[in-house]
Amino acid sequence: MKVFKKTHDFQSWHEKLPQKSKIGFVPTMGFLHDGHLSLVKEARAKNDFVVVSIFVNPIQFNNREDLQNYPRNEEKDLQLLEEHRVDVVFMPSVEEMYPEPAKEIYSFPHIDQVMEGALRPGHFNGVAVVVSRLFKIVKPTSAYFGKKDYQQLLLIKELVKECSFDIEIVGMPIVREKDGLAMSSRNARLSAEEREIAPVIYKVLKQAKQLLEDFDVEEVCEKCSAMLSENEKIKLEYFIIADAETLKPLKSKKDALHAIAFVALWLGNVRLIDNIELF
Ligand code: PAF
Repeated sequence: MKVFKKTHDFQSWHEKLPQKSKIGFVPTMGFLHDGHLSLVKEARAKNDFVVVSIFVNPIQFNNREDLQNYPRNEEKDLQLLEEHRVDVVFMPSVEEMYPEPAKEIYSFPHIDQVMEGALRPGHFNGVAVVVSRLFKIVKPTSAYFGKKDYQQLLLIKELVKECSFDIEIVGMPIVREKDGLAMSSRNARLSAEEREIAPVIYKVLKQAKQLLEDFDVEEVCEKCSAMLSENEKIKLEYFIIADAETLKPLKSKKDALHAIAFVALWLGNVRLIDNIELF
């Protein structure tokens, strides 16, 4: 497994690849867990070469504390990637990715104005900037993203259309702990008590699916919000049922053919998001 920190070193490797090689790319911010590894496995199964990037992208954090506290473990990440037969790990420094402050502005009508887009100003622009720069360096044929960050996945699909990147975007299912908590690098920052509370998120999402058989969307959102807010350690940011393609919040089941329930909340000092496909 090769590890490159410089773009030109990565590009020299890329230039020597046989023509028409299939390159599967998994962009990450490191501190890898089984969710990331499910993307790596899929990329390994479907491509000639697998590239993983590890880069904690400062411009997608709208909260300095969150950036400073973002967990890192380079040594373990590299060991895991080697075990999963990754060909190249690209680990640029901040100076390498941003020799000058980034000026690109992307806009994704509606998609970046709701939920995470509304609550984390600048976050999705930061994601779009880094992902498009990484795509230009790595030149993958396919790129793999988890559905836990469903809104991000839609936005990347839009980015690919807007920038005419010839890249297949693959969305992969959420990987959960045994008790249902969606895997996330941020889970490592939960205290033992918070970690015990955290599975309630998925329990309530599953309840939403059941409740929807008897109640309409607004009532389901109210009931689920109340269930989550019962715990005094939880500060709910949103519980929304939205159209899976447009992310427009629904008022009624009749308003969409494909709907997803999305939740974001603070558990102590850790912000967690999750979602479930309803129909
Ligand atoms: O999902 C992530 O880990 C990040 O947002 C990504 C796509 C690697 C961009 O920094």
